Amino acid sequence: MTTVHDCAVVELQRIHNPKGNITVVEKGRPIAFDVKRVYYLYDVPGGEGRGGHAHRQLRQLVVAAMGAFDVVLDDGRERRTVSLNRAYQGLLIVPMIWREVVNFSSGGVCLVLASTVYDEADYIREYPAFVQGKLASVGG
Ligand code: TYD
Repeated sequence: MTTVHDCAVVELQRIHNPKGNITVVEKGRPIAFDVKRVYYLYDVPGGEGRGGHAHRQLRQLVVAAMGAFDVVLDDGRERRTVSLNRAYQGLLIVPMIWREVVNFSSGGVCLVLASTVYDEADYIREYPAFVQGKLASVGG
């Protein structure tokens, strides 16, 4: 069973330049999964939030490409809040973790690199169903 501690902030490769920096994510570095989809959240009103669901299989790397926001992770037993505010850090989210993306700074951009294409059947959108799924996976 996955826990919030299986989710980790990873440092991404940074190429410094006085004229602007580049951050690179490529096969095997630093994420083990192949990226099948990229999407980004933007124009989120300051203080607003998104998310409020879990994924059965999907793995994601979440990056604050611009600005800042908090990701609240929940494994049904424990909650952990991770603040993202650097374009060279990514939060790796494993399957079966309930997440909410909150406290967007104005102009914040949440970039997501995802291990699968969009599949609504992969979502769990009801929190009680999520907790039930977690309990079932430990036979409890
Ligand atoms: P959703 O993942 O539910 O975002 P949030 O939980 O932040 O509100 O996506 C919102 C809508 O966008 C949903 O109706 C489906 C659509 N969508 C796609 O069509 N493809 C995608 O890759 C994503 C992420 C969302």
